[in-house]
Formats: sequence, structure tokens, C-alpha cells
Amino acid sequence: MKAIILCAGKGTRLRPLTFTIAKHLIPIANKPVIYYSLEKIKGVGIDEVGIVVNNENINDFKNFLGNGERFGLKIEYILQNEPKGLAHAVSMARDFIGNDDFLMYLGDNLILDDISQFVTEFRNDEKLKASILLSPVKDPSRFGIAIVNEGKIVKVVEKPKDPISNLAIIGLYLFRNTIFEGIDNIKPSWRGELEITDAIGYLIEKDYKVKGYIVYGWWKDTGKPEDLIEANRKILDDSHFKIEVNGVIDSLSEIQGRVYVGENTEVINSIIRGPVVIGNNCVIKDSYIGPYTSVGDGVLIESCELENSILMDRVKLINLPYPIDSSLIGKNVQIVNSERKPKAMKFVIGDMGKVEIVR
Ligand code: DAU
Repeated sequence: MKAIILCAGKGTRLRPLTFTIAKHLIPIANKPVIYYSLEKIKGVGIDEVGIVVNNENINDFKNFLGNGERFGLKIEYILQNEPKGLAHAVSMARDFIGNDDFLMYLGDNLILDDISQFVTEFRNDEKLKASILLSPVKDPSRFGIAIVNEGKIVKVVEKPKDPISNLAIIGLYLFRNTIFEGIDNIKPSWRGELEITDAIGYLIEKDYKVKGYIVYGWWKDTGKPEDLIEANRKILDDSHFKIEVNGVIDSLSEIQGRVYVGENTEVINSIIRGPVVIGNNCVIKDSYIGPYTSVGDGVLIESCELENSILMDRVKLINLPYPIDSSLIGKNVQIVNSERKPKAMKFVIGDMGKVEIVR
């Protein structure tokens, strides 16, 4: 069995971050989103992975993941020039998949449940042509939806206006080669995309066996900043999160709860209250870092308070008068409070940046 991860979308809701980094490479608990899917894929014994990318992000992925060797995987890159739909993305991967069965993962989706039983049941039932991971949701019209009868999916609809079920397709699919028969027989949807949901619908119409595998654990489609901040909270809450304090913590500082501090990081006269992860080569001085915060490498935090946030590499926060909360701050961003007069707020912010001052 092989795996494909779909990462060729535009990531418009995460601009301006996605002007310089694919959304699947944004860190959660200091690991890019895509690492979590790679771990799941490896965990079910698949080692050949095709990543569907576009012209803009292919080099970022190659730089981050290379040929996959350091993850114990063999990674290939598959180009989809335009995001013409999930079924179109799969058809681009046809040569890579060959005659194999495959696991398809939507690259921006995070799931905490163990997927080994989902995969084992599919491997053991030759008659199954597809198995789709589903989860009950409150807002079904945002998703592909399935109606399930005795474990079998009897109908699927993509983003229905009047949902007929609350079981959402959450971004993990298992297919045999039969899915290409479905893909060859569908037309673009109302949103102009070749929908994998329609290809699954074709299999159901032809009476192929399609299973709905329902999970109840936490999962997230990480399309918006608040989704990433929530995902960061969830992953830091996970008991598998590694606790280790490297670096230098001075005698005036206090480390409370589950905290990871990277190498060459200095913590001076500060309180760090976990769960928190701090990368390498940072300086945290006269500050408080509260729960659910991830701090990348080379970050400088001086005389600030923050919590529930993601700071990417080389951020500088100096002397801020208010605590930072629920924030997602990209690489090399500087937020500095200077004592010079006249008093003013000075901004140099890229296109689509967002500053919210809550007083
Ligand atoms: O999040 C789950 C939902 O994902 C499902 O419930 C829907 O049935 C499914 O169609 C999908 O809907 P979205 O509208 O949320 O898909 P999105 O455009 O966000 O794309 C999902 C991933 O696939 C994302 O990582 C980008 C990638 N992608 C997307 C398109 C349209 C591609 O690689 N190529 C594409 O052409």
C-alpha cells in the first residue's frame, strides 16, 4: 500500500503566512503540520509517500522533507499545477500509485485518533473498494457528508446546503484502484472542481462496497489561524509530548508543568508555565510564557507576557505593555515597544497582515 498527501491548495485563509510558507509546513508544537500525517502513515507500515504539490510550494516541501530518508520514508513529489479538485489531484498521482491500494490524506487535516484499525480492516476485506474516515460535526454544510447504513456508506454529498447527515468526511480515505473508474466518470462540480466525493458517489452507485469508519476523537481542518492555535493547544496537551529542559535556566527563573526547552536557550528571570515548547537558541528574559505556547528557534522575548500562541523562528518581542494571547506570529517578525517620543504605534506589516489591540 502507498500513501498520497494532498498539499496543492492555495492556503488563502492563512495569508500573509502562506505568502512565504505552505500551510502544511506551519509549525504546531514546533513541528510542521505535515509531520503529523507522515508519522501516522509510517505508523501503519506504509513507506512510499507521494506528496501532491504545486509550482509555488514544491521547493519548500523538498527543502523540508527531501527524499524522506530521515523519516524512514521514500517521498516523491507530484505536481498539480492548478487546484482543480481532490479527484484531479489523485489523477495526477496515477503513475505513482500504479496498481497499488492507497491511503489518501488531506495535508491540512490533523487527527489524533489511532488509524491502525481503519487500515487493517481495509487490508483484510478484499471486497471493500473504499473506506472513508468520518466524524460527527455540528456544521455539516462545510464538509463532504455521508449517510451510513450498517457500516456501509449509501450516499455522499459535497458541502450540502441542507445536510442529510451530520457525519463529515474528515480527510483520510483508503482506496483500491477502482477509484480511478469513478474519477474517469465524473464532471466538475458547481465550484468547478473534480470532487473526490463525487468519485466515491460513483462507486456507491455501481454497488461497490464503500465503508464509513467513524471516529469520535479530536481532529481539525487547519485552514484558519484559530484552527492552528487550537491544534497547538491539543498537541501540547497530548501526554506523548516530550518534556525536557536543555539550555540554561538561571536561579531566578521557574519552570512549571510540562515544558520542553531546546539547546542553547537561555531563560533569565522568567516563569515558563507549561504545556510550552521552546526551540533552540532562544533568549527569554524578564518574561512570563504561559500555557499552550510554542516558540520556534532563535526567538528573543524580553519583558513580555504571552500564552496560547505560536511564535515561529527568529521572532523578537520586546517590552510589550499588554500580554500576547491567541496569536500566530510568522518568521522574523519584530514587535518592539520603544520608550522614544512622540508616542505612536508604528507598523511595517505585509499584505493581509492583521493587528488586533484588545484594551
Ligand atoms: O476537511 C475535510 C473536507 O476536505 C471534506 O469534508 C470534503 O469532502 C473535501 O472535499 C475537502 O473539502 P475542502 O474544501 O476543505 O478541501 P480543500 O480545498 O481545503 O483541500 C483539502 C486539501 O487538499 C488541502 O491540503 C489542499 C489540497 N488540495 C486541494 C485542492 C482543491 C490539493 O492538493 N489539490 C486541489 O486541487
